[in-house]
Amino acid sequence: MQVIILENPDEVAEHASQWVIEFISKKAKPVLGLATGSTPINLYKKLVKSHQEFDIDFSHVTTFNLDEYHNINANNEQSYRTFMTKNLFDKVNINDKNTHLPTCHQDENPRQQGFVFEEKIKKAGGIDLQILGIGANGHIGFNEPSSSFASRTRLKTLTKQTLEDNSRLFKTGEYQPTMAMTMGISTILDAQYVLLMATGKNKANAVNEMISGPLSAKCPASALQLHEHAIVILDKEAASKLPDQDYYLWANTEHQKINQAYGLF
Ligand code: GLP
Repeated sequence: MQVIILENPDEVAEHASQWVIEFISKKAKPVLGLATGSTPINLYKKLVKSHQEFDIDFSHVTTFNLDEYHNINANNEQSYRTFMTKNLFDKVNINDKNTHLPTCHQDENPRQQGFVFEEKIKKAGGIDLQILGIGANGHIGFNEPSSSFASRTRLKTLTKQTLEDNSRLFKTGEYQPTMAMTMGISTILDAQYVLLMATGKNKANAVNEMISGPLSAKCPASALQLHEHAIVILDKEAASKLPDQDYYLWANTEHQKINQAYGLF
């Protein structure tokens, strides 16, 4: 795991955007795995800016989102499709046909839908770079604690904590879905690179469990310890419970020399 500790959320988004831009500039047919939540919003803003100001091209990019609420219409305000459209897809020159979310409606079989989504990823050649956030309970995508490390795209019931954490995004009285389709942990681990961003004190425990804790279904993000190329970008608050902060800071200055000479990947 490469753990990068930066001063603040803006630096986290800036560094993550350099990774994304490097992939989409260097690969002929880049495939990105995307995440929703508050954390990646600044990353998307930076990508939009780089498209507007420096002509960064998205026309050849294919995307797969981690998750989508069960039985929600694409045009619903709360759907992750709407989130992506507002924050990224509508603001860059990506072809809508190349953007995918793991949808499943009431009358559809979630197992079949999960399989279809996995097949689409395979057909695209696999995910090159998967962007991730982390839940306060250590979830990635909507892989809640107890998720199998072998899991693939499927329907999950959200935990009370996740429902409470995400309730801030819903208006009083507005229906909040309790189930979601999500890439599995195994699906995420299949990506060639994974890049997880975490900011703020409320993520510090989950971040410490993910990096220093045992491999455990209690902290689904700990599965990233098994990944060959996992990059974790943190602000100081999210890193505050890590015992080895000095080592990570020092290792990073060393890594920067290699990055400058050979690029990020
Ligand atoms: C949501 C998403 C995750 C996201 C997490 C953290 O439940 N399914 O992909 O990483 O919550 O969200 P936030 O960045 O808003 O803290």
